Amino acid sequence: MVFKLRRGKRFMKISLVFNIIIVFYICFSHVNWSSTAHLEDSVAEKQHHGVVRGVRQDTLPTSVRQNSITNKSTVASMTKPPICLTKILLFGMRQHWFEFCSFKEFSQYKYLIEFPRFVNCPDTNCFIFLNYSLDARDIPGYDVILFTDVYQWLTPTMWDWAHGNRTDGQRWVMITEESPLYVPGVQPPLKYANNTYDWFDSYKGDSDFVHTYGYYIPYAEGEPVNYPDLKKMVQNKTKLIAWMGSHCETLQWNRRLFVEDIEKIVHLEKYGKCGDVEIPWNNFEALKETLSPYKFYLSLENSCCEDYITEKFWRALELGLVPVVVGAPLEYYHKVAPPHSFIHPDQFDSLAELALYLVDLNANEHKYLEYFKWRNIGKLISYGQEEHYVRPLTNNTQCSIQSKLLATDQSQSRKKRHYFGQEWFGSCVKCGAKPWMQKYMLPRDHARENINIWA
Ligand SMILES: *[C@@H]1O[C@H](CO)[C@@H](O)[C@H](O)[C@H]1NC(C)=O
Ligand SMILES: *[C@@H]1O[C@H](CO)[C@@H](O)[C@H](O)[C@H]1NC(C)=O
Ligand SMILES: *[C@@H]1O[C@H](CO)[C@@H](O)[C@H](O)[C@H]1NC(C)=O
Ligand SMILES: *[C@@H]1O[C@H](CO)[C@@H](O)[C@H](O)[C@H]1NC(C)=O
Ligand SMILES: *[C@@H]1O[C@H](CO)[C@@H](O)[C@H](O)[C@H]1NC(C)=O
Ligand SMILES: *[C@@H]1O[C@H](CO)[C@@H](O)[C@H](O)[C@H]1NC(C)=O
Repeated sequence: MVFKLRRGKRFMKISLVFNIIIVFYICFSHVNWSSTAHLEDSVAEKQHHGVVRGVRQDTLPTSVRQNSITNKSTVASMTKPPICLTKILLFGMRQHWFEFCSFKEFSQYKYLIEFPRFVNCPDTNCFIFLNYSLDARDIPGYDVILFTDVYQWLTPTMWDWAHGNRTDGQRWVMITEESPLYVPGVQPPLKYANNTYDWFDSYKGDSDFVHTYGYYIPYAEGEPVNYPDLKKMVQNKTKLIAWMGSHCETLQWNRRLFVEDIEKIVHLEKYGKCGDVEIPWNNFEALKETLSPYKFYLSLENSCCEDYITEKFWRALELGLVPVVVGAPLEYYHKVAPPHSFIHPDQFDSLAELALYLVDLNANEHKYLEYFKWRNIGKLISYGQEEHYVRPLTNNTQCSIQSKLLATDQSQSRKKRHYFGQEWFGSCVKCGAKPWMQKYMLPRDHARENINIWA
């Protein structure tokens, strides 16, 4: 496809970037550039050997195989194009990214909203041309379309336009860190449920690209270990239960009622927009100071979906609190959480039993300390919230998509993901296996009908 570059400022900017990239490319690639004319030779030579960085040439997507830039005179006017280029379009990305990345305190992310831009992927020795658009007419010609928007709906008509403008071999990727209930912006109408997305990029373990909010790894043999003094860690804990919520209501379950019911049995304190005292969500030190005197933290997810275990869980562990979780089914916590590190409703036959268990642990230091033992055998890795937020825009994300694209055999059958299947929407079922938790579930269609998802 053709770069529609006009003379002027933008052209200068793009061609400058392009030239820098070319210089970079010449310096670091093994391609022997001696003159412009050799471009085609280089491509031909690579094709002859049938290998580009370990990827068989005949498995590359057509656009890459033939070189994405097909207009020779545009190419010539740009000196030299990179030998390998993937065109990626962020579709439907809206204002909130621009606002967020423009905040002074997040200036390190500013480059993420500069469009169009080139990204160099060292692993593939290949470049990405990254642009964004709200107009379906811009969809043709890109190798990959990323659907990232969380907050805004595309209307059914806009989905028709998007599908109408889709080109052959183009990969459509859904990319989000939120649960299916909170991403109406990437949800296609039912008629497109199983013919929209080639790949999912999410927190979910069976996605094509997996990005969890955190994880636990046991210490490796010989790894230097910093054994915390567990007794000391808990000695200053004088308070019982804390909850912090910026949104009181959720779409799938009645979180507020759950908190109210616990409050009837044991004392708890509430922070955040939904509680009595607000703490800035991105101020770790303030959080630590406020929350570390508590023994337990209510890690109540906004959705109960397989693998959906967010910073609400990992942050509680980081801050030295024992999380009381509601979210993914118990076995999903067992899969990723440190051993004996959390409390889940499926471990109890009633809410009262759960609450009284907390009271019991509070009175029994030995039993409470059992929830800290994992800290001597392994460690946590968790991601900052803003890091997670901007992830769809980062070089790493773009480059891993490119790697998969280059490694995918074009000729293999292209079964698409089913949006409402078990692999995505269907993975959000209930917040607990025990009958008493059913009280808190909201009707299934509550989510889809609710206009204000962040109610
Ligand atoms: C290629 O680009 C040049 C310069 O931008 C333009 O004049 C020409 O019409 C284009 N050719 C095709 C086949 O699109
Ligand atoms: C992202 O890629 C661009 C272009 O290759 C590069 O200039 C920039 O430094 C990269 N950013 C990070 C954080 O690696
Ligand atoms: C980048 O996308 C915008 C639409 O958001 C479009 O107008 C522009 O032509 C695109 N740039 C290139 C070089 O394709
Ligand atoms: C492409 O998108 C435009 C809207 O941007 C729409 O008017 C047009 O009908 C779409 N093309 C097809 C073939 O659907
Ligand atoms: C996709 O959905 C349609 C309509 O719901 C159905 O008829 C078709 O069998 C589905 N295809 C696949 C591959 O699941
Ligand atoms: C416990 O509190 C005391 C007094 O406020 C303080 O000096 C000490 O550092 C605290 N210990 C821990 C482990 O936080």
